[in-house]
Amino acid sequence: MTSHKSNLDAAAVSQFLASRRTTRDFIKDKPVPQEILDQILTDALTAPSWSNTRPFKIAVATGDVRDRISTEFLSRWDALAKGRNGNFFAKLKLITSRYGLPTSNRLSAKPYVAELKPRANRVGAELYGLLGVARGSREERDAQWAKNYEFFGAPVELFIFIHKSLGIWSASDAGLMIENVVLSAHAHGLGTCAQGAVVIWDDVLRKEFDVSDDYRLLTGLAVGYPTEAPVNSFGAHRIGPDEILLKKK
Ligand SMILES: Cc1cc2nc3c(=O)[nH]c(=O)nc-3n(C[C@H](O)[C@H](O)[C@H](O)COP(=O)(O)O)c2cc1C
Repeated sequence: MTSHKSNLDAAAVSQFLASRRTTRDFIKDKPVPQEILDQILTDALTAPSWSNTRPFKIAVATGDVRDRISTEFLSRWDALAKGRNGNFFAKLKLITSRYGLPTSNRLSAKPYVAELKPRANRVGAELYGLLGVARGSREERDAQWAKNYEFFGAPVELFIFIHKSLGIWSASDAGLMIENVVLSAHAHGLGTCAQGAVVIWDDVLRKEFDVSDDYRLLTGLAVGYPTEAPVNSFGAHRIGPDEILLKKK
């Protein structure tokens, strides 16, 4: 019988969990060793899952594939940003050519509802403040956002797809699995950045990987070694449990 006990110190585990932060600047020319990537993916599959179905797939983009995807994303982002920010003719060009418009997850960029907006605004203001991105400057914000499409320099980008049939439970299972990836990577001295930014052009990925129509793109995840850049010392605000606990009637 395998033991299901852990002899890790609880306080050390809490410290480990709290010490994980999103990485937004990676050492581009420092690859992730294959054996470490293999271990992380093995760790991914020890997460709980709805009836043990594991209703997700992962596309691992490295090397030329990673670079091709990044180049195409950057080109589409350029077209999209120019269309959004430009004059009538720029907008018309975007709409008529359609190049740059989302081909998947069109609703991922919809505005936040009032209940959640203050949290999103706060992290945006604090992160951009640290980066010196002027609040009112769309150009500066767009330039920072564009780094998403370089995967912040990460040599590995994972694209996580979920099976459509299980609806929200596929996403939940994938989320549990992704957290294992993120924490295993953290334990190996690697950084990660989940990237909702990359979910809007899944046709690019479907050209590179054999993805069945039963699966839809949930998120990207950049993996690599963090640089010493100040952005990697950013600590997003933590809310307390009181903010998520439901009041008794
Ligand atoms: C599904 C998902 C998508 C995300 N998308 C992005 C993204 O596109 N770009 C980015 O810089 N950060 C992205 N993040 C990172 C969050 O902004 C970050 O997790 C949050 O601000 C909390 O900070 P922390 O991870 O450092 O604790 C994403 C996180 C999740 C879970």
